[in-house]
Amino acid sequence: MSVRRLYNASLMGALALLVHLCMVDLAICSSNFTDQLALFNFKSSIKNDPNNVFSNWTKETNFCGWAGVLCSRRRQRVTGLLLGNMSLKGTISPHVGNLSFLQLLNLSYNSFYGHLTDEIGYLRCLKTLSLSGNMLEGNIPLGLHHCQRLETITFWGNKFSGRIPKELSTLPSLSLIALGQNELIGTIPPSFGNISSLEVFGLEENHIYGNVPTELAQLPNLKLIDLVFNNLTGPLPPAIFNKSSMVEIDLNYNAFSGNLPTNNGLFLPNLEILLLDHDQLTGNIPSSLSNSSKLTLLILAANLFTGPVPKHLGDLKHLEIFHLPKNQLTNEPGSIELSFLTDLSNCTSLVELLMGQNKLSGTLPNSVGNLSNSLEMLSFSENQLIGTIPKEIGSLRNLTVLSLAANNLNGNIPSTLGEIKSLQRLYLGGNNFHGSIPIEICLLSNLGDLYAEQNKLSGTIPSCIENLRGLQVIKLHHNKLTFIPSSLWNLETLRLLDLSFNSLGGSLDPNIRPSRVLEIVDLSWNQISGSIPRVIGSFQSLTSLNLSRNLFSGPIPNTMGNLITLDFLDLSHNNLSGQIPKSLEALSHIQYMNFSCNKLAGEIPNEGPFMNLTSRSFMENEALCGNPILKVPPCASNSSKKSMI
Ligand SMILES: *[C@@H]1O[C@H](CO)[C@@H](O)[C@H](O)[C@H]1NC(C)=O
Ligand SMILES: *[C@@H]1O[C@H](CO)[C@@H](O)[C@H](O)[C@H]1NC(C)=O
Ligand SMILES: *[C@@H]1O[C@H](CO)[C@@H](O)[C@H](O)[C@H]1NC(C)=O
Ligand SMILES: *[C@@H]1O[C@H](CO)[C@@H](O)[C@H](O)[C@H]1NC(C)=O
Ligand SMILES: *[C@@H]1O[C@H](CO)[C@@H](O)[C@H](O)[C@H]1NC(C)=O
Ligand SMILES: *[C@@H]1O[C@H](CO)[C@@H](O)[C@H](O)[C@H]1NC(C)=O
Ligand SMILES: *[C@@H]1O[C@H](CO)[C@@H](O)[C@H](O)[C@H]1NC(C)=O
Ligand SMILES: *[C@@H]1O[C@H](CO)[C@@H](O)[C@H](O)[C@H]1NC(C)=O
Ligand SMILES: *[C@@H]1O[C@H](CO)[C@@H](O)[C@H](O)[C@H]1NC(C)=O
Ligand SMILES: *[C@@H]1O[C@H](CO)[C@@H](O)[C@H](O)[C@H]1NC(C)=O
Ligand SMILES: *[C@@H]1O[C@H](CO)[C@@H](O)[C@H](O)[C@H]1NC(C)=O
Ligand SMILES: *[C@@H]1O[C@H](CO)[C@@H](O)[C@H](O)[C@H]1NC(C)=O
Repeated sequence: MSVRRLYNASLMGALALLVHLCMVDLAICSSNFTDQLALFNFKSSIKNDPNNVFSNWTKETNFCGWAGVLCSRRRQRVTGLLLGNMSLKGTISPHVGNLSFLQLLNLSYNSFYGHLTDEIGYLRCLKTLSLSGNMLEGNIPLGLHHCQRLETITFWGNKFSGRIPKELSTLPSLSLIALGQNELIGTIPPSFGNISSLEVFGLEENHIYGNVPTELAQLPNLKLIDLVFNNLTGPLPPAIFNKSSMVEIDLNYNAFSGNLPTNNGLFLPNLEILLLDHDQLTGNIPSSLSNSSKLTLLILAANLFTGPVPKHLGDLKHLEIFHLPKNQLTNEPGSIELSFLTDLSNCTSLVELLMGQNKLSGTLPNSVGNLSNSLEMLSFSENQLIGTIPKEIGSLRNLTVLSLAANNLNGNIPSTLGEIKSLQRLYLGGNNFHGSIPIEICLLSNLGDLYAEQNKLSGTIPSCIENLRGLQVIKLHHNKLTFIPSSLWNLETLRLLDLSFNSLGGSLDPNIRPSRVLEIVDLSWNQISGSIPRVIGSFQSLTSLNLSRNLFSGPIPNTMGNLITLDFLDLSHNNLSGQIPKSLEALSHIQYMNFSCNKLAGEIPNEGPFMNLTSRSFMENEALCGNPILKVPPCASNSSKKSMI
């Protein structure tokens, strides 16, 4: 998490311990024997020490030499207890409060449980208190505010509950407070706006509600605010967007509403990260954001933003991640081209550009090919884009994901796509693409997902498709394809094949290669004729097989009884004849089976899944009979009437 990253940087200084007297009076009435006793008590409340950290914590040696103990040189008093990431399990002894000279207490990344008691408040010299990554519970002790020298409190990743004590806002030197990933409730105390030294404020992943207090937003030195995953509401205080100290703003996954400030109201010259996604923000995206020239991450997804994508984003020279999906963004008025793509070509570090689920209705400019070479993800899915895919798209050599699904694009699928050798996922479904699938697609040796369903593609699936050695999903349903090459079955990694609702003709090669991994095959609503290959019984991972609404003839192969993982089988509306093989009784996972509207005859098997079928599964055949539960007529030796069940 981002807060973690920042404090690791900001705390390097804390290790350079300045030894000075914080409590002269305590020094008089306590001694190094008090420290020794406190440490022994600390040790005795540890239940598990698998790394033997405490093996040299013995009376025989001076405690200043013990593992994890730092002492002041002259007075030989404990100033630091550094036992982070030592696999310790136990409670934190209240005796720790007797280490009167302690400045640095780091017990992070262990398995401390139980409560942190008020005695912690005796540590008047404490500057750094780091207890992250434990299982501490209960309230944050109020006594903590007596530690007036505290600069850093990191408690994230525990089970602290209750409210945030407003008393902590009296800590005059506090620069970092990280309370994320706990179970805190209530509101953010406005008095935190009094801690003028505060730089990092982290409360992510708690149950905080209410507004962000204006007072907090006005803190002059605030660099990072992380409130992700809470229940905060209301407008964001404008002051948070007019602050040259700000480096990172993480206010995503709350329910903030209202508009962002525009023009001079947004002044964030040092901002690197802005996460405002999954809120309820409205209005335009301010173009003054383009003045935040250090931005690397800009995520505004899933809000109610309207208007165009702002201009001048090309000034964001360091932008790497730019996500705007799930808003209501529209084109620049009077412009048919998505001209912001031209601006973005100056963002030479761009890695992800996601614009899906908006109301963009323009064309993709040819300059899309000038986007950064580092671009890996490009999505415009679920918009209203028109026109064709510019052939220049082939210049995006590092793209792994390209999604243009669910738009109104037309023309051919450009053969230049074959130049994007790194492409792993291609989503072109739900457009008006026509023509044939370019054979250059076979050059995409890293392709895993090929989605081009619901278009007007015609012709054959190129037989070179077998070259795509990692292809897992082919969805080409609802097109006008006419031919399946046998080589398609050579794809050893294919899990899902959906070619339903096409114009596929011809028959299936009886010698197709059986796949070990193919799970779902849908060839329904085509004109495939000939028999169902017996080899189908060797597709050992098949869970769903739909061959309905074709012209298959001949018998149902009895090998299908081997498809024991099958839960869906639809053979209806074909010309299949002969008996339903008794071997199908072995299909114990079947949830749905349909044999209706064929020319089947003879006795219906009556064991296993057949016990649960209704007559609907057998309607309109030649002469099926036999299953008493189905109320099918018993098989008379001379029965030849078509059974209309
Ligand atoms: C306390 O400090 C004195 C003087 O430095 C030293 O002799 C004594 O051993 C110390 N006691 C402990 C418990 O370390
Ligand atoms: C105790 O153990 C620590 C860590 O293993 C080591 O640095 C230190 O020198 C040891 N102290 C003594 C007195 O042996
Ligand atoms: C505390 O210890 C952990 C684990 O060694 C370390 O990652 C962290 O930076 C330390 N925290 C402080 C504030 O020194
Ligand atoms: C804890 O120590 C282990 C190895 O001892 C190390 O791999 C891990 O990164 C450390 N974790 C932290 C948070 O310092
Ligand atoms: C140290 O702390 C414990 C528990 O908080 C307390 O009972 C004890 O009196 C304190 N003083 C000394 C000198 O150990
Ligand atoms: C900030 O501190 C001043 C002086 O102590 C106090 O009057 C004021 O109420 C505090 N502000 C908040 C928001 O608590
Ligand atoms: C936010 O509030 C809702 C309803 O009050 C609750 O179901 C949800 O768990 C809360 N979310 C968080 C992150 O606290
Ligand atoms: C932004 O902050 C500056 C300096 O703090 C202030 O002068 C200016 O009025 C603020 N602008 C707005 C629009 O609030
Ligand atoms: C960027 O900042 C300059 C100087 O403060 C200002 O004139 C300009 O309007 C800002 N640009 C945008 C797009 O807000
Ligand atoms: C890209 O940057 C160059 C040089 O900084 C500048 O001349 C050009 O206008 C910019 N283009 C866009 C589209 O922002
Ligand atoms: C393209 O991807 C390769 C491999 O992931 C990487 O080494 C290279 O740096 C990337 N090119 C750019 C311009 O980012
Ligand atoms: C029939 O259906 C019931 C309830 O859905 C199920 O528990 C049972 O296993 C099924 N029997 C067979 C043989 O599939």
